[in-house]
Amino acid sequence: MLTIRENNWIRLLLNLSKYIDINVSYNGHHSESVAQWVRCTGRKLGCSDGEIYDSYWAAMLHDIGKIGVPYPILSKPGPLTKKEWQLMRLHPLIGSNIVQTLDSISRIAPIISSHQEKYDGSGYPSGLQGEEIPVGARILALADAYDAITNDRYYRQARTHDEAVAELNRNSGTHFDPIILKAFIEIIDPKWMKTSYPSRNGKNKKSPVRSGTKEYSAVPPRLPATASHSRSQ
Ligand SMILES: [Fe+2]
Repeated sequence: MLTIRENNWIRLLLNLSKYIDINVSYNGHHSESVAQWVRCTGRKLGCSDGEIYDSYWAAMLHDIGKIGVPYPILSKPGPLTKKEWQLMRLHPLIGSNIVQTLDSISRIAPIISSHQEKYDGSGYPSGLQGEEIPVGARILALADAYDAITNDRYYRQARTHDEAVAELNRNSGTHFDPIILKAFIEIIDPKWMKTSYPSRNGKNKKSPVRSGTKEYSAVPPRLPATASHSRSQ
């Protein structure tokens, strides 16, 4: 079981992650949306309960390292300079270092540290490629990109679902794992989306999850109770 101290730390990290989402993506739902897509895609791919569980929590906290990136860089409306990119590219490792300090979730650190790696080895921070990248990180990269493309950012406006899918497909085999991409595109089919999420500019965004079923419930699973990988959610 988690100690009260660990439980409080994890809650603090989740709140911090939400705060970062609000600052970076306006609506504050980025990590939650990404985590639900990651969980659904993991199920679709037949990942183990442990992989799905870890991937879900890594997604919930994947951007926590942006706490170490200056806000003017996170909110810059134009392209980043070389120096600014150097700082931005630190966030996977900063996030990984943060979660490593808690025994109960330290195992999600490799997923967080590698969520900006690319399938062809051209990503960062380590240039991992193919199956060297943890499966959770390969799923997370897709969900992260889809949510970023379909929501407003400081540097560009939201694009449509179809435009996002076309963009993901263009990067199949280079940025993204082609097998995982196929499963992900089935998961994000608009006919599965029901609930609307309000965004800061007044438009409504579609929820990534179906409502009314247990498997696709928007309610996150309980905080991790043990370090076991066998728990189902
Ligand atoms: Fe993200």
